[in-house]
Amino acid sequence: MKKQWLWNSGLFLCLAIIAACAAGLPHPTDALVTEARRSDPSATIETLEEGRKLFIADCSGCHNLRRPTSRRPEEWPKIVERMARRAKIPTNDKERILEYLMAVSGADGPSK
Ligand code: HEC
Repeated sequence: MKKQWLWNSGLFLCLAIIAACAAGLPHPTDALVTEARRSDPSATIETLEEGRKLFIADCSGCHNLRRPTSRRPEEWPKIVERMARRAKIPTNDKERILEYLMAVSGADGPSK
């Protein structure tokens, strides 16, 4: 009985963690593209997907990934600028990362 409870709560925790990660780093959707086009009309599913990958690859080296929704869209440019300088991230990659972060936080972040 007790073991069953433990197993259930362990399973629940795993699912909760997976759900939290998925919610934090969504793959691009049409809604996200619409959001991204407010600041960059050339945004597409592909550029956003690239931004997501670059974000995971370039922004996890020194600290845990910060959730895109942890900042308002207008807060991201300054932060990404500072981090990109520090990490020597090329301009093109920096713009992709920023586009992704702003789209996700704009669609789903603390400003709404
Ligand atoms: C070379 C190491 C390094 C890399 C790579 C890096 N960071 Fe940071 N980051 C830091 C350090 C050190 C701090 C704490 C000092 C500070 O805030 O400047 C920090 C702080 C932060 C903060 C909190 C600061 C605030 O003002 O809210 C955010 C958000 C952040 N990083 C996002 C990112 C993102 C996004 C990327 C990828 C573009 C990234 N980091 C890549 C070193 C790094």
